[in-house]
Amino acid sequence: MKLPRNFFKPLAIGAPAPYRELPVRLERMIHFVPPHLEKIRAKVPDLAGQVDVVLGNLEDAIPIDAKEAARSGFIELAKAVNFGTTGLWTRINALNSPWALDDIREIVGAVGDKLDVIMLPKVDGPWDIHYLDQLLAQLEAKHSVSKPILIHAILETAEGVKNVEAIAAASPRMHGMSLGPADLAASRAMKTTRVGGGHPDYKVLADPDGDAPRVGYQQDLWHYTVGKMVDACAASGIKPFYGPFGDFSDGAACESQFRNAFLQGCVGAWSLHPSQIDIAKRVFSPDPGEVAFAVKILDAMPDGAGAVMIDGKMQDDATWKQAKVIVDLARIVADKDKDLAAVYGL
Ligand code: GLV
Ligand code: MG
Repeated sequence: MKLPRNFFKPLAIGAPAPYRELPVRLERMIHFVPPHLEKIRAKVPDLAGQVDVVLGNLEDAIPIDAKEAARSGFIELAKAVNFGTTGLWTRINALNSPWALDDIREIVGAVGDKLDVIMLPKVDGPWDIHYLDQLLAQLEAKHSVSKPILIHAILETAEGVKNVEAIAAASPRMHGMSLGPADLAASRAMKTTRVGGGHPDYKVLADPDGDAPRVGYQQDLWHYTVGKMVDACAASGIKPFYGPFGDFSDGAACESQFRNAFLQGCVGAWSLHPSQIDIAKRVFSPDPGEVAFAVKILDAMPDGAGAVMIDGKMQDDATWKQAKVIVDLARIVADKDKDLAAVYGL
């Protein structure tokens, strides 16, 4: 393991110094676009005003014969669009694919200064992060990129889940992690063909009650992995995200899966379809009632210590910290979303 003093040194002469704290950004949804399609690229200027992050996808779902067009289409849209405070990310191809090296070299060379985050799929261990970290530092130095490009890992292999803590702590370039339920299901030989969400057969049966029909309660297939990911991310000061929800026709199930992840500590999810943008906004912006109550707690305990009763509920140092998480998030949301700012009264 590296000495703490060396951990924060740039990995190439002339590369920008790594961040000590992550930049504060609102990232309720990471909106995926296929950049090889001209029709889609034309919509990005508009889209950038509606979402928190635009991600140009180069990996799965992009046909093999369109891989190069997706890469050059991403570079074209990155150059053409003013993203303002909206994040610009790309999901590159996996490190063992024939495209990854050119994805990284060409994109950093052409638009390294506009790119906030590289999403790296199929991360198995910290070695994958170290490779990309070193390469990015060399390219940042070569192309005089002024701020470090961050890395976001997809947690989608059994080996990655086993190594999740080491991945989260692998580099100061780590931004966060997303659950990749489709590849993870395949890697673990789970018996589901769904992309995220529950499964009707994964349930707990209530005890028998005479001849009454037994009731079954569906459980969350992803609870264990999301919990493990949230702990690894929180312990390293990086951000956990739910990934994709593939059934675009079932908005209610998508919302419920996103909400479970939000309650467990995730800060956002992927939107693969326009209908999922509003779902993510609803879920990952704190509830106005919770915000109002959290503001009351902070007001009643200005130094965050001691104990007070509010509306019959006991508050102490720990609930003060919970309240601060909610109010801090509400303030970031309010800065971007004027309608919600009015609702929160912030
Ligand atoms: C996402 O990449 C997934 O595999 O679910
Ligand atoms: Mg995947």
